[in-house]
Amino acid sequence: MKTTVATFAAAKASGQKLTMLTAYDYSFARLVDSAGVDSILVGDSLGNVILGYEDTLSVTMADMIHHTKAVARAARNALVVADLPFLSYQVSVPKAVKNAGRLLKEGRAQAVKLEGGVFIAEQIKAIVEASIPVVGHIGLTPQSVNAMGGFKVQGKSEESIKRLFADAKAVQEAGAFAVVVECVPPTLMKKLTESLSIPTIGIGAGPHCDGQVLVYHDLLGLFEGFSPKFVRRYAEAGDLIKKAFSQFVAEVKAGQFPGPEHCFADPDEGVERMY
Ligand code: KIV
Repeated sequence: MKTTVATFAAAKASGQKLTMLTAYDYSFARLVDSAGVDSILVGDSLGNVILGYEDTLSVTMADMIHHTKAVARAARNALVVADLPFLSYQVSVPKAVKNAGRLLKEGRAQAVKLEGGVFIAEQIKAIVEASIPVVGHIGLTPQSVNAMGGFKVQGKSEESIKRLFADAKAVQEAGAFAVVVECVPPTLMKKLTESLSIPTIGIGAGPHCDGQVLVYHDLLGLFEGFSPKFVRRYAEAGDLIKKAFSQFVAEVKAGQFPGPEHCFADPDEGVERMY
């Protein structure tokens, strides 16, 4: 069954948990979709995990459209949500609507996500009024890494808690159908989830959310070294893949690949007689 914005509302009403995973290309989007995930996020995290930038700030509309197209071709049931990249919506309301529209019209996403609360509520309202479903994103907002002074847990001070609740309310009132909440403590998250009529999708926000989202590179262990505290690694696929690549190298060097079973049959005439 195709997930829609109505599925999100029904899940909030019935208490059924929602699932969201990132994907950036056709093959992985097929895997994510066929695993039964409710929604695929074409995140601007593609700046980190696909393009190798140290943050998401350099991601462009062209990058997002390119990857969203590939994901949308693969998604049969999951709702495809595409991120609006840095400076594609902050500058003005008309620019926000135009760029959100491009993610649907050219990328074939079914919804867009954008970061911020009170300060971009006008943009959310206008995008929703253009019939484009919106997911908000509050708490730790990676596009504001420089303003926030780093990737820091939010909701630790009274001021930060007040801002979080004000942002959540603003996003909901502007018409978003769900909100991603990143890196806030669980007790606060419980209160936030209970205070909203739209579903909260947490990342690093504990269990009291209406759903959970992860970047699949984290979940699969595709990166060596740093793994955020909030990630459960469901597989060590990075090790498995590296082992397979090393085995390929070793077998080619040793003349063990390709074997006879990988070769096409010789022509009936026999190659020797033809030369
Ligand atoms: O870009 C992304 O992948 C995200 C998730 C971290 C929620 O915004």
